[in-house]
Amino acid sequence: MTPTTTIADAELDIEIFRKYAGLSLPRHVSYPMPTGWQDMGEKDFPEMMRESQDRFPDRGWSLYLHIPFCEALCKFCACNRVIVPKKYGDNWIEPTTQYMDMLLRDVGRLPAIVAPDRELRQVHWGGGSPTYLTPEMIEQVAATINERLNLAEDAEVSMEMDPRHTTPDLLRLLKRLGFTRLSMGVQDFDAQAQAHVMRVQPFEMVRDVVDAARAAGFESINFDLIYGMPYQTRETIRKTVELTIQLQPDRVAFYHYAQIPHKIATQRGMDHTKMPDSETKLEMFLLGHQLFTQAGYEFVGLDHFAKADEMLAEASEKGTLQRNFQGMTTGGGLDLVGIGVSSISHFLEVGFAQNVKDVEEYQRCASENRWPTVRGKRLTDDDIIRQAVMNQIYCDAQIRPELLEDRFRISFRDYFDRELQVLEELEDDGLVRIEPDGTGAGRIEITFPLGRVLMRNVAAVFDVYLRPDAYRTGDRDYFSTNA
Ligand SMILES: C[S@@+](CC[C@H](N)C(=O)[O-])C[C@H]1O[C@@H](n2cnc3c(N)ncnc32)[C@H](O)[C@@H]1O
Ligand code: SF4
Repeated sequence: MTPTTTIADAELDIEIFRKYAGLSLPRHVSYPMPTGWQDMGEKDFPEMMRESQDRFPDRGWSLYLHIPFCEALCKFCACNRVIVPKKYGDNWIEPTTQYMDMLLRDVGRLPAIVAPDRELRQVHWGGGSPTYLTPEMIEQVAATINERLNLAEDAEVSMEMDPRHTTPDLLRLLKRLGFTRLSMGVQDFDAQAQAHVMRVQPFEMVRDVVDAARAAGFESINFDLIYGMPYQTRETIRKTVELTIQLQPDRVAFYHYAQIPHKIATQRGMDHTKMPDSETKLEMFLLGHQLFTQAGYEFVGLDHFAKADEMLAEASEKGTLQRNFQGMTTGGGLDLVGIGVSSISHFLEVGFAQNVKDVEEYQRCASENRWPTVRGKRLTDDDIIRQAVMNQIYCDAQIRPELLEDRFRISFRDYFDRELQVLEELEDDGLVRIEPDGTGAGRIEITFPLGRVLMRNVAAVFDVYLRPDAYRTGDRDYFSTNA
């Protein structure tokens, strides 16, 4: 019998946890990860669109718009953003207007390549901070989408909101424009942790925004929280989660702090000596899990919690969740089209295409009517099969060999012979449980808590772009693991 430790009601073997924790491993917002992509050019995006439409004419689609601007920098931020402070006068209007004109130009070019009867089922505005825009800019983009694209009547339309710049007027405007979901960057409620990362927003401010959003008629509100940053402790996380539960968001993304200071220069300004270690982060996660589930939230995938009647929890129940660049979506089965700087398009079973990351270069392409694609990946048959396995792992915390065998006409046992041998090792360590099945392979469950907190290690077994032993040694400079 292995010795177990109890943390926040969950029992696990801490020695085994130490064996796998803290490695550099991807969290697979895509498979293959962008590190396995190649250079691409302007023709690839419309070509992939055409191929997808020829092969899957009934498939709906989802639109992502990237608004890179923010008023001030948050030191932890790993997003593609451009800081243009508004406090110095009108200096922000010109660059913002220029960018939005070019983004609108690209939205306006979509009808030339999207089949007119294809239904637009989801629109997501992310960034950066879409709340940086003026109401007029938001109205103009929303009107263009309504007029030029075949937006479904019951489409899900969402925006990432910075509570520091969200007013009741803006919320009423979004409601009138047909927005259905809001996602707020909350991160943490602790004053010291907030000050250190330069993201000061007291609890009362977030509460007022939530109250105003409910008053405006929004029924689906998401909070982003981050654990694992400097000055966060078990007790500050307890308080942050308790205050979050008090405000009753419908979903919570409980992100592990992704620390990549060699890529994100501003993260170097953080006091990394004050960062919690792997075991404290494990305690923080399990504490969050305990508090959220006791409060009636369901644990979904790697790091999300959702109320049982929320669409994310329902999709998890039905097995229609999909992992993507916004974390987790109910938009399984939709092609994703990314517009704006650094945006990524994902044509299911066809490939990925990413736009140029530099704002000026993006604007140059748009002004010359060139699609700004610079890299991507056309998917091989093997990529598509492994992508389906990754989706099952990250969204359902299990692998269902019979579904993969039906869909891809493979023998799971033969196809994943090497991987199954590694999984037997992970089963001995308690990360997975393989149900016996006479001839093929039975269902493979990712265990709670050990397998769920080390989910990236399990997924790494199936990632052929990593070294074969990456699941226990780590690989390259990915975001550090959940643990
Ligand atoms: C584009 S921002 C959300 C909207 C808005 N800009 C804001 O901050 O309120 C997307 C989210 O990414 C998450 N994020 C950014 N950098 C991160 C990092 N280094 N580790 C984990 N999560 C991070 C934050 O939770 C943030 O809310
Ligand atoms: S966390 Fe949000 S507001 Fe802060 S810099 Fe990043 S994108 Fe901008």
